Amino acid sequence: MSNHNISLDVNGCLVEASVEPRQSLADFLRENLALTGTHLGCEHGICGACTVFINGVPARSCIARAVSCEGDEIKTIEGFVDDPWMEAIREKFSSEHALQCGFCTPGMLVTAYDITKRIPDADEARIRVELAGNLCRCTGYKGIVNAIKGVLKDQKDVS
Ligand code: FES
Ligand code: FES
Repeated sequence: MSNHNISLDVNGCLVEASVEPRQSLADFLRENLALTGTHLGCEHGICGACTVFINGVPARSCIARAVSCEGDEIKTIEGFVDDPWMEAIREKFSSEHALQCGFCTPGMLVTAYDITKRIPDADEARIRVELAGNLCRCTGYKGIVNAIKGVLKDQKDVS
């Protein structure tokens, strides 16, 4: 099958590339752009380890095709490095022991960013529902939920 030329924005940079029609966005990010912070677990859209933002919405990059992202804005975990909101989330993940092996963590952080921005009044039950698409084999989720609750509480306290 012949390659397709695509042009997209990745972490604020214009990227132009020639991709095979079946290449996933996750493989494109990891193999073509060396953005290996996007992890691959199940590669079936189940575990959430590969979660990135596509046009501001969390999406599983293992089941998105790179060729389908023509013209899109992609934000990977590397794209949040200077983001103060993500820094606050990372600090809470650390203080609440919300990671052990860290394999799920990039996807968890991207999802946590979405939850804390989109649902400022989320209670624990809602946080757990929103996290249902991100699997963690290590933590039992309590630390992750507490970290997100902590970010939301801190935001309420300063507002
Ligand atoms: S690797 Fe994409 S959802 Fe599991
Ligand atoms: S910290 Fe190991 S899978 Fe989540």
